[in-house]
Amino acid sequence: MSSNPPRRSRRWIAGAAAVAALGVSSVALGLPWDIDMADTQAVKAYAQRMPDLPEGVVAQSNLLSPKDYTTNAVRGSADAATLLAPVATDERKQLGEKMYGIYCAPCHGADGVKLGPVAASEGAPDRMPGVLALAGPNGVAQLRDDSWIYLTIRNGGAVMPAYGHTMSDEEMWAIVHFVRTLPGAAYGTPEPAVDEDAAEGEEEANP
Ligand code: HEC
Repeated sequence: MSSNPPRRSRRWIAGAAAVAALGVSSVALGLPWDIDMADTQAVKAYAQRMPDLPEGVVAQSNLLSPKDYTTNAVRGSADAATLLAPVATDERKQLGEKMYGIYCAPCHGADGVKLGPVAASEGAPDRMPGVLALAGPNGVAQLRDDSWIYLTIRNGGAVMPAYGHTMSDEEMWAIVHFVRTLPGAAYGTPEPAVDEDAAEGEEEANP
């Protein structure tokens, strides 16, 4: 018996090897049987009636679409201008202080003037960039009405993340109340633009 089989039997071996390889491939193994996957009866949403709820179940539609949220709006729009903050009670300011400490101080700083540890600073360029001071002489809160601040918390800003999903409506308004207690953060703190002639002589009175 020679160690080199004749050419014909070599072709036969190659053919047998090919058939064997095809035979164990997953496609070939599944072929006669896997078509039932394509013919499966798909269950289509809403095609059947939903089963009745078990007895005693109480619908809590408020959990899915809370009704006690202020209507959402785009900052600065006419709709936004109609949003009014609830009365700023002491309890609400306290709640706002707590929520501000958790959600805002990391970027805007505890007093709204000196930015917090997450705000970008020289040497830490990978931190949150572009954080604005809310309070103090250059604070942005004095330029923004309550609805603007509320909607910024709820929907975020150009860079600032949104917090509407993390707190209740009451908590967001409470933060607005607290921000107003920070130095120089009352709405309209800067002097309004006045007619130059009329302003003459008033500069001493309104330094
Ligand atoms: C992760 C950092 C970060 C946190 C946390 C954060 N902010 Fe900001 N905030 C920013 C940045 C950055 C800007 C400026 C760019 C922008 O408007 O997105 C900003 C801007 C603002 C502005 C000015 C928006 C404008 O254009 O007038 C207000 C008001 C504000 N933040 C309030 C808050 C309040 C209130 C909280 C807490 C609920 C808060 N921010 C939490 C990063 C943050």
